[in-house]
Amino acid sequence: MALPATDIRVPSAEFALLARNIDGHPITYLDAAATSLTPQTVVDAIVDYYTNHRASVHRGVYPLIVEATELYEGARERIAAWLGSTPQETVFTANATASLNLVAHSWGRANLQPGDTVLVTEMEHHSNLVPWQLICAERAAELVYVPVLDDGTLDLDAYERLLALEPRLVCVAHVSNVLGTINPVAEITRLAHAAGALVVVDGTQAVPQIPVDLHEIDADFYAWTGHKAYGPTGIGVLHGRRELLQAMPPFISGGHMIKQVCEASSTWTDLPGKFEAGTSQIAEAIGLGAAVDFIQEIGIESIRAHELALTTQLLERLAELPGLHVHGPLDATKRGALVSFAIDGAHPHDIGEILGREGVCVRTGHHCAQPLMRRLAVGSTTRASFAVHNTTEDIDRLMNALESVRRVLVL
Ligand SMILES: Cc1ncc(COP(=O)(O)O)c(C=O)c1O
Repeated sequence: MALPATDIRVPSAEFALLARNIDGHPITYLDAAATSLTPQTVVDAIVDYYTNHRASVHRGVYPLIVEATELYEGARERIAAWLGSTPQETVFTANATASLNLVAHSWGRANLQPGDTVLVTEMEHHSNLVPWQLICAERAAELVYVPVLDDGTLDLDAYERLLALEPRLVCVAHVSNVLGTINPVAEITRLAHAAGALVVVDGTQAVPQIPVDLHEIDADFYAWTGHKAYGPTGIGVLHGRRELLQAMPPFISGGHMIKQVCEASSTWTDLPGKFEAGTSQIAEAIGLGAAVDFIQEIGIESIRAHELALTTQLLERLAELPGLHVHGPLDATKRGALVSFAIDGAHPHDIGEILGREGVCVRTGHHCAQPLMRRLAVGSTTRASFAVHNTTEDIDRLMNALESVRRVLVL
């Protein structure tokens, strides 16, 4: 009998995939931080669009277009309201990577000057790193790293010292996808603004896991991705401060994003359309709207409480295993619902393979965070992550499978 960590109840019909067996083993899905499973209500919303309302949006006046546009823009309104943003400041993109590239290519190319400094942290995902490397190289700006302390938190004293460099921009993850660390992004933003810098927050791992209030955080840009937040693949979001988005040049250009096109030049449509060139991700946005409805129905506070309880249990159970080392804060309240670890004498690839034989799905690898891997002095880690459907029985299965790892690898 699967015991939930809290009294949270998710109808089992929401995640049909969990009823499957693989080689006689039930699926123990502990990889929501890579991509979340899709609730049936999200699948239904997408199927409903394709089945009953399929038409383009914003182009034409016949009733089907009006219906599709209302579904699409309705999703944007609900997503914006949920996080404390506005529809004009909520841009649909392909994923978090595209959102961050939009800021780098549009704001970065227009604003960074030779000799400028951009601060990033040692715990960034490549998506909040490589775009800054490229744009800094192009603009002859310097990329400077805020270090990570041994306990897996950011070195905030070093951050304050680095602000003396008067950076133009600070780029920081809200929740680390490897360490789980929840960074104090509101405080980081306050200090950055006081030093004259703008702030880009990568909220990819935060939005599905912890309450996010964009007003309170007050960052200039906040990026996240749909497929880790119970939504479909192919959709991401960039929230940006209106004045900045208005002043920024377009990134991708073509249809939909224009006001007027003359032979030699063009003008741009209002926000957020200026940054949504081409036919929109209509089904994906509608699906993401349904995903946000799913989260709100349960309540993000309840989801956080549930996943915090599971994370606490997992940390306690992992501490019992000899030779196992957890990366990141050991206090579950300081982390999101994911735990990366190492086992002496076991390569993460082997761990993942042996767990997989028992239906336990975890992520292994460098997690697109190679500078952080070097900081941790490892090549890769094993990461278990939770979503709303996980239970204490999933932790039991993981622990049993980790016993198999010890047996098979004779540890
Ligand atoms: C912290 C973080 N940022 C950004 C990304 C990139 O997300 P996407 O591949 O959907 O653009 C990920 C995905 O793993 C992530 O964990």
